[in-house]
Amino acid sequence: MAREIKNITIFGAGLMGNGLAQVFASDENANVIVKDIKLSENPSQVLEDNLNTLISKNAMTREKADSILRRVKYTTDMEEALKDADFIIECIFENMELKQNLFKDIEPLCKPDAIFATNTSVMSITEIASKVKDKSRIVGTHFWNPPYLIPLVEVVKGNETSEKVFEDTYNYLRRIGKKAVKCMKDVPGFIANRLQHAIWREALSIVEKGIADAETVDEALRYGPGLRWPILGILENADMIGLDLSLNIQEYIVPHLEDSHSASSLLKKHVADGNLGFKTGKGYQTWTEEEIKASKKRLNEYLIDVTKDLK
Ligand SMILES: NC(=O)c1ccc[n+]([C@@H]2O[C@H](COP(=O)([O-])OP(=O)(O)OC[C@H]3O[C@@H](n4cnc5c(N)ncnc54)[C@H](O)[C@@H]3O)[C@@H](O)[C@H]2O)c1
Repeated sequence: MAREIKNITIFGAGLMGNGLAQVFASDENANVIVKDIKLSENPSQVLEDNLNTLISKNAMTREKADSILRRVKYTTDMEEALKDADFIIECIFENMELKQNLFKDIEPLCKPDAIFATNTSVMSITEIASKVKDKSRIVGTHFWNPPYLIPLVEVVKGNETSEKVFEDTYNYLRRIGKKAVKCMKDVPGFIANRLQHAIWREALSIVEKGIADAETVDEALRYGPGLRWPILGILENADMIGLDLSLNIQEYIVPHLEDSHSASSLLKKHVADGNLGFKTGKGYQTWTEEEIKASKKRLNEYLIDVTKDLK
């Protein structure tokens, strides 16, 4: 029988923790507690700002925003955060030892069947679980930023995650409206980051080899294959093309693709030169303050628009 998940505790009131508070509190039955080691005077400010932005774009009603706010509490008190929790997700710093110790420390304070989820971006779920007594209770749930706009969550099975915890987590996330997908192996990058980094590796190689500059690479993706992916994905697209043709093309092209096993030398050079992208105004391209603002605004408005109907 599917487990009832009602009381959710989030560790870390940072960027992802606040975004997830909104995701979980969108469920009318939820009680959400956000626990941090320190909190600002008005800890719900970030959540309120996120909600107000959505309201201003007609992507949220005031009533719904108020009900979300009512369901979220912020605390620094460990006992209050844990005593009733059914589902505990950590969104603390991306540091292996911190995550391992957090789960080890909270285990004696939790209900015995509480699920422990980690929002790690890249680290091994199995290794994060290593200091906990009941390792079957830990599962990876990799949300994407901003989690209240990006539907995907990769539910990752660690080597010792129980089938029940894995399925309950997947079903719960689907129930609250996320596009949860199952990642059956605890591998670096899970599913979506492996895909993303494979494209990054090729993109940088194209620039480095002088085949095209950075702006052109992005244009080729945005106005070409990138347009199809939200509708078809890449494997349905191959089925549409026909696998016989797909094989002929792969046999011809694959020997020519980038296959290096280290980070790109172009990327390393930019970082060594202090060119960090938007942060410094120069990365693969140069960016003015106006262009940076416009790019962020364009992304946000696009995400609000395309995800409206997915919820
Ligand atoms: N930022 C992203 O785009 C993104 C996307 C997916 C996953 N993640 C992952 O989510 C996690 C959090 O990322 P973020 O960007 O929200 O970080 P952040 O720096 O914005 O927030 C981290 C918060 O955790 C708190 N914290 C640290 N130790 C704690 C503890 N022991 N108990 C309670 N709170 C503690 C900090 O005070 C801080 O408020 C990381 O593992 C990150 O890799 C981030």
